[in-house]
Amino acid sequence: MSKIIAPSILAADFANLQRDIEMVNKSEAEWFHIDIMDGVFVPNISFGMPVLDAINRHAKKFIDVHLMIVEPDRYTKAFADLGANMLTVHYEASTHLHRTIQQIKSYGMKAGVALNPHTPVHLLQSIIQDVDMVCLMSVNPGFGGQHFIENTYAKITELKELILQKNASTLIEIDGGVNNKNAAKLIAHGADVLVAGSFVFKSEHPTQTISELNQLVNQ
Ligand code: DX5
Ligand code: ZN
Repeated sequence: MSKIIAPSILAADFANLQRDIEMVNKSEAEWFHIDIMDGVFVPNISFGMPVLDAINRHAKKFIDVHLMIVEPDRYTKAFADLGANMLTVHYEASTHLHRTIQQIKSYGMKAGVALNPHTPVHLLQSIIQDVDMVCLMSVNPGFGGQHFIENTYAKITELKELILQKNASTLIEIDGGVNNKNAAKLIAHGADVLVAGSFVFKSEHPTQTISELNQLVNQ
């Protein structure tokens, strides 16, 4: 399977959102990554349902929604109705993770679980077979433009081992501080999906930057 670049809309120009969405539509990226922050689970508020609705009306690719909110199970249906294809909840925000994952799947979405940088991979031992994707946070969630945390490589290796050991087909996504210096190394360690926000949208030629990343991870 080819490796996936998922530009994070958090770094887009919200005053030119349609333009930036069309840019991703025409690019080599396969997914849109959408960050929803509630100001409680993380110390920042991004955007909510009306904005996702607007994105969904223009986006022509797979929509990967990353919920950084408390009590995510209250909103699974709402995000399905808004066009999410993958819904990722945080391990740290989910009291009944198994139930939440089943709920997400029952609405026809793929189910993802995100781990904060300090949360160990082994906590997923009893749930990994039910999860379509694990998102390893490579920065502390809440903001774009932060520095990549190097310990992520070791977590990818451990997660890959767990997936193989359990005979699961779970994808590994890396979120935070991804750029052209670490992309190939992340893939070599076992990552399948790379989220890139600032590196794409703050670059001079975002379409070319996506293409460059795509070539680095699919060589
Ligand atoms: C951080 C978000 C990320 C963020 C990545 O909490 O989950 O998706 O947009 O942005 P960069 O690529 O700038 O680190
Ligand atoms: Zn994210």
